[in-house]
Amino acid sequence: MSTQPTSSQAPLGVPSDATLPLRILLLENIHTTAVELFTAASYQVERLNKALPANELKQRLAEGSRTPTQILGIRSKTRLSADVLDASGPLQAIGCFCIGTNQVDLAAASRRGIPVWNAPFSNTRSVAEMILAEVIMLARQLGDRSREVHAGSFRKVSAGCYEVRGKTLGIIGYGHIGSQVGVLAESLGMRVVFYDVVPKLALGNCQSCPTLGALLAQSDFVTLHVPATPQTHGMIGGAELAAMKKGSYVLNASRGTVVDLPALAAALKSGHVRGAAVDVYPEEPEENSDGFVTPLQNLPNVILTPHIGGSTEEAQVNIGREVATSLLRFLSQGATTGAVNFPQIELPPTRNTHRVINVHRNVPGVLRDINRVVSELDANIHAQILSTNDDIGYLIMDLDHDVVQQVSDRLSLLPTSIRTRVLY
Ligand code: NAI
Repeated sequence: MSTQPTSSQAPLGVPSDATLPLRILLLENIHTTAVELFTAASYQVERLNKALPANELKQRLAEGSRTPTQILGIRSKTRLSADVLDASGPLQAIGCFCIGTNQVDLAAASRRGIPVWNAPFSNTRSVAEMILAEVIMLARQLGDRSREVHAGSFRKVSAGCYEVRGKTLGIIGYGHIGSQVGVLAESLGMRVVFYDVVPKLALGNCQSCPTLGALLAQSDFVTLHVPATPQTHGMIGGAELAAMKKGSYVLNASRGTVVDLPALAAALKSGHVRGAAVDVYPEEPEENSDGFVTPLQNLPNVILTPHIGGSTEEAQVNIGREVATSLLRFLSQGATTGAVNFPQIELPPTRNTHRVINVHRNVPGVLRDINRVVSELDANIHAQILSTNDDIGYLIMDLDHDVVQQVSDRLSLLPTSIRTRVLY
């Protein structure tokens, strides 16, 4: 464990004014890459392999606590409700070392001036690779053959088994994952088409389809990579399955609400759809458990996985690196790029200046009050950037050393200010 740098040794962009060493608490077994990055930047890190119950968490976050936490890292099991956040004292930022942020009351966090980060794209490649594997597994019925040999049945089959070279892969939702799937599929010699509601640059030789119907009519494999929205809810139902080529395949590793599973089961039973790979379900257990039921169970050439598309060691490393890097950039520069509940700004550090950051309620007159403080103290602003959302404004200012603390003290007294501090 190391302590925070002192002002005389602090490199440019590393905060130096804290009287207490800044404490980072990482819960739920967050990957060690994050710990390594924080300790390399000379921060104290405590890493626990479990979530903490609300009461214990409140104690850890409270102002008067022996070890008040300024940066909190969690995964999906820690609930940060308004109640817990309202009890927090010096907490400056939250890192969700996972994809979702449902476990955090984001509005309560921004009310308290606390930005929250996650890692939405760290597992993109993992999902794309799984889809490619499943395309080949479905084409060759590998899931069924493997099950048969495990059960002691040695049955060589070539009927109904195909190469994927030259076949058409239709990608619905050509975002981070969909576009990666397209690139990988072309490397196997597949023809790739996609449909997206937003115009997208087609990578490689991939072609855009004007309508969902055009994609369904020509694809041998249809793979979904859309978000869960009212528009995507049930977007593949009985009519869309009927519009697909006879003998085609469906893959869904996006969200469970997108495909109507009873309709897919019926299309599989009738033989219209030759196989399916499904990783996500309308209702999924919160914990690993037995007794899971879906209408797709026990159908031939159907690969069912328990929402593991993004679950790889590499994704965990990437998540650790991505979120820790965002938090470090916030700590060193005040940058909020990528924060899910905050105005997003960054200002490259300027030499020989000192930085103050201020989070305030976004109400009329607030800028006038901030400018009055700066002008009354005759502060020389070297650089300044402000961004707002409906609720809050976030300001970064680079000032001369002799006034920075006074500006910070005066800004923090404004009734609209939520949080103000000298960063370095
Ligand atoms: P993304 O946001 O980069 O891409 C989504 C794309 O879908 C965008 O291009 C968007 O314009 C498009 N889209 C939205 N509505 C549409 C509609 N009605 N019709 C056609 N296109 C539409 O998202 P990303 O990162 O590629 O993720 C895709 C999905 O994969 C998400 O639902 C995500 O939750 C899921 N996911 C699943 C994982 C797993 O473990 N199975 C892991 C990671 C992500």
